[in-house]
Formats: sequence, C-alpha cells, structure tokens
Amino acid sequence: MEVKLNLLIFSTVLQCLLVLCVAQDFDFFYFVQQWPGTYCDTDQSCCYPTYGKPASDFGIHGLWPNYNDGSYPFNCDSSNPFDESQISDLVSRMQEHWPSLSCPSSNGTTFWSHEWNKHGTCSESVLNQHAYFKLALDLKDNLGILQILQGAGIQPDDGSYSLSSLKDAIKGEIGATPYIECSTDSSGNSQLYQIYVCVDTSGSNVIECPVTPSGKCSSSIVFPSF
Ligand SMILES: *[C@@H]1O[C@H](CO)[C@@H](O)[C@H](O)[C@H]1NC(C)=O
Repeated sequence: MEVKLNLLIFSTVLQCLLVLCVAQDFDFFYFVQQWPGTYCDTDQSCCYPTYGKPASDFGIHGLWPNYNDGSYPFNCDSSNPFDESQISDLVSRMQEHWPSLSCPSSNGTTFWSHEWNKHGTCSESVLNQHAYFKLALDLKDNLGILQILQGAGIQPDDGSYSLSSLKDAIKGEIGATPYIECSTDSSGNSQLYQIYVCVDTSGSNVIECPVTPSGKCSSSIVFPSF
C-alpha cells in the first residue's frame, strides 16, 4: 500500500516536471527601445501623443518573449486582455517612457494594449500584467542607454558615429552586446532606430543574445536629433 502510494506520488511529480520542461513558454526576452527622432524621420510620419511631445530619450517599444531559434510566440492568451486598471499606478511612467508615436495621436493605451496582447501574454507564466509593464519601465531606468551613449560622446545631434563605438559603449556598461537596428533616412543614410538588449526569462539578468534579428546597419550610422 505504502509502495503504491509512493509510486503514485512519484509519477505525479514526474509528470509535473515533464509538463514544465515541455511547456517551456519562451527562452529569453528582447527588450527593445526606439529612438523617436528616427521613428519620425522615415517613410511613415509620426504623431506626438495627445499629452505632448516626448522627451529627447529612447522610448520603450516592447519586451518580447523569444525563442533561441529566432522565432517567437505571440497572442498567447486571449482570455487575459490588456486591462488598464491593473497598471493605473504606472500610467504616468508609461506616458513618459513608453509613448506612442503612431498616427493619429493617442494617449498610449492602444500601443500598450497591442504589446500586452501580442507579446506580454506569452510570458504570463512569469509576469502578470503589472509586473510585465513594471519590468520594462525598470529595465529602461536601470540600463540608462542614452546616458551611456552620451557618456561616450555619442549624442543625438544628427552626427555620424561608428556602429562599433555604440556597441562597445553599451557593452562596456551593461556587460552584454546590444543588437542595433537601423533604418534608412531620405538621403539613404543608415540611422540608429532601435536597440535590443537580451534579458533572461526571470527578467532580472541581461544576457548575451542567443540569436539576433537579421537586419544590418552600415558601419557608420546617423543619430538623429529629436
Ligand atoms: C486613453 O483613451 C481611452 C479612450 O480613447 C480611454 O479609455 C483610456 O482610459 C485613456 N487612457 C489614459 C491612460 O488616459
């Protein structure tokens, strides 16, 4: 009897372990910040938020669960849609650090809702809505990417900078290589658009990216003013 019970418990534990291993939701996060001066200086136009022009700083684009093979899960749980009431204490930080620049002007809710529904629901085994948005805000504060670049003499002054100087400055401070995404301005120059930093599934450690997107910047890139 006792043996049978132990066996039952053992097999239940084993099944749980298997489920956890098999049901691995994602492998790491991309934490993506975008430069507003570049967003506004490409083919698509930009519109400032209803509450005013954002500061001359990177804005959060998103915190995206990803797989090591480069693919990613999305729209993982339609039963847990974005709910503004869960992040009411974060809204003023969100408006400052996670502004929407798409047209027409908006107060950010549509952007945040898209990010949660598409990406955030895929990490809900680790982070609830409040924790998800708070983690992104805290990552932005703690990384301080603009301050790092400015400390290395890299300013949003429409000047050109070597791609390697940007990467080296950031790696020197955060301990991992960022992935830099560029877009092309109207004169055909490669310009700094987004900076990706990889973060482990707990959200607490910056890691080397297991895989990066495939776009390429020129070796010299413009940092547009905003
Ligand atoms: C943004 O506007 C929508 C209506 O368009 C409203 O439901 C929502 O509460 C607003 N959010 C904030 C943070 O002002």
